[in-house]
Amino acid sequence: MILVTGGAGFIGSNFVLDWLVQHDEPIVNLDALTYAGNLNNLRSVEKDPRHIFVHGNIGDAALLSDLFTRYKPSAVVNFAAESHVDRSIHGPEDFIQTNILGTFRLLEAARAYWTGLETKSDFRFLHVSTDEVFGTLDADDPAFNEETSYRPNSPYSASKAASDHLVRAYFHTYGLPVVTTNCSNNYGPLHFPEKLIPLVIHNALQGRSLPIYGDGLQIRDWLYVKDHCSAIRRVLEAGRLGETYNIGGWNERANLHVVTTLCAVLDELQPRADGKKYSEQIALVTDRPGHDRRYAIDARKIEAELGWRPTETFESGIRKTVQWYLDNSDWVENVTSGSYRNWVEKQYA
Ligand code: NAD
Ligand code: TYD
Repeated sequence: MILVTGGAGFIGSNFVLDWLVQHDEPIVNLDALTYAGNLNNLRSVEKDPRHIFVHGNIGDAALLSDLFTRYKPSAVVNFAAESHVDRSIHGPEDFIQTNILGTFRLLEAARAYWTGLETKSDFRFLHVSTDEVFGTLDADDPAFNEETSYRPNSPYSASKAASDHLVRAYFHTYGLPVVTTNCSNNYGPLHFPEKLIPLVIHNALQGRSLPIYGDGLQIRDWLYVKDHCSAIRRVLEAGRLGETYNIGGWNERANLHVVTTLCAVLDELQPRADGKKYSEQIALVTDRPGHDRRYAIDARKIEAELGWRPTETFESGIRKTVQWYLDNSDWVENVTSGSYRNWVEKQYA
């Protein structure tokens, strides 16, 4: 049994679905079902006895203690987090609660459980983090590697950095067998349409404007979510304890390029009824405060040590993603009803 947290969110649910195809080991999936968590993501494994869903919070010490005692997991994979930078700017409190305090409670529960294990090498704690903890790069700076100092700039990245430091400290202080991954921007199926790629696909199809912050020349490295999941499985299997592994797609792209690529793929797969191009919907809007200019990942360590490389190129992954959104309009309809609709209608009317 492995304990996955946040397994109803974007990356976590992709991980759960892939895991159940690749492995026999069952999963207990702990998720608080915030606005970003969605049981529809897990519909295909609803009746699979190898998937046990628990609705709860990683900050709930009593629940965690019960789960560890009951399920005796061989590993924890911690995805649970508040994950959207813009939301962290408007309201950082939940980020502190979940990303810092929640991770702390999870570490404490894991430590208590692991301390009582007879064979201590039978357990590991994998903490899923982000490249955003490294801060921002100039155009000619080398990519982030595992030695790059932490310089988080948003409340989101600062909260993730704090959690990464706690994970590191639990290894050095208590010997808890941990490993941390720092990944670049993910995209793919089941992505909540508040982040750039799913938001642009959704807005394009709805005839809404496609908001690009500032000059649109900020750069991110993009990784197809299934490649992130395979990297996590590989690190879980063979990563060295106490180490960190950067995960990236070798796909640095400016936001404007990302959006025009999405528009071109949509023009091809689902042309606008009026014959115009989706790129006509692009609108440059006020920049995000403190907007990091460039992220880039040097993923050579995971490749050299663990033999992992991404399988999708940016172009192949984007095409699959657009196709997935076109084929799954009921999923989109479901996640964009209710509070999302009020929120988005205010912003992108
Ligand atoms: P997401 O926002 O889609 O999902 C987060 C999930 O965690 C949701 O299901 C939510 O209900 C759950 N959750 C939130 N607070 C919780 C709590 N207190 N207790 C239990 N569950 C809780 O996020 P995501 O994009 O899937 O990201 C997953 C992880 O990967 C995060 O830790 C994030 O920092 C990290 N990460 C994300 C990206 C990316 O591009 N999305 C890149 C690198 C790292
Ligand atoms: P996002 O998907 O929010 O991920 P992150 O902030 O974690 O990198 O944003 C990706 C990039 O796209 C980032 O530079 C901000 C920019 N962006 C826009 O230009 N417009 C948007 O509406 C959103 C959501 C993001």
